[in-house]
Amino acid sequence: MLVRKMCENDIPFVHEIEVNTFSDPWSRDDFKKSILDVNNLYLVVEENNEILGYCGFWGVVGEGQINNVAVKESVRGRGIARIMLNSLIQKGKEQGLEAFTLEVRVNNHPAISLYHSLGFKDAGIRKNFYEKPVEDALIMWL
Ligand SMILES: CC(C)(COP(=O)(O)OP(=O)(O)OC[C@H]1O[C@@H](n2cnc3c(N)ncnc32)[C@H](O)[C@@H]1OP(=O)(O)O)[C@@H](O)C(=O)NCCC(=O)NCCS
Repeated sequence: MLVRKMCENDIPFVHEIEVNTFSDPWSRDDFKKSILDVNNLYLVVEENNEILGYCGFWGVVGEGQINNVAVKESVRGRGIARIMLNSLIQKGKEQGLEAFTLEVRVNNHPAISLYHSLGFKDAGIRKNFYEKPVEDALIMWL
């Protein structure tokens, strides 16, 4: 299993996971713009030439705003998210980031458990932050 930077050729495969995972998915162009900004970092996990998951942050004034985390449904529970997020956070620190933040649906227990296990702390609620369905967001910081 290889964790590496996302490149433009990965975007169709990343986007397929994105549309199969989220009710309000990013477009291919959203990913393209995000990976082209030098302040941001996007990683993919690859095995046997197949993209299994991806994550990334926007680097904004010393903070990493993590805005995409997904693992292909058929390979969840194998530790892939933990490996890729540890790598993302390590690389973010190496490029000078001092803190990381994200939002997650308040009922997304697998993701919240994952973020807690990585050291993220709960920092507040954004009311009705999500659509399709409407749900509050838990704000977390590391
Ligand atoms: C959340 C998600 C990224 C986890 O990916 P994964 O590769 O299956 O996670 P891992 O195998 O690395 O698990 C790491 C930790 O996450 C938590 N976790 C993962 N799946 C879980 C589940 N079904 N129930 C409870 N906790 C779970 C556990 O703390 C786990 O640690 P453990 O194995 O020591 O118990 C994956 O379920 C996913 O893509 N979900 C849909 C997209 C999503 O919700 N993204 C987050 C948006 S903010």
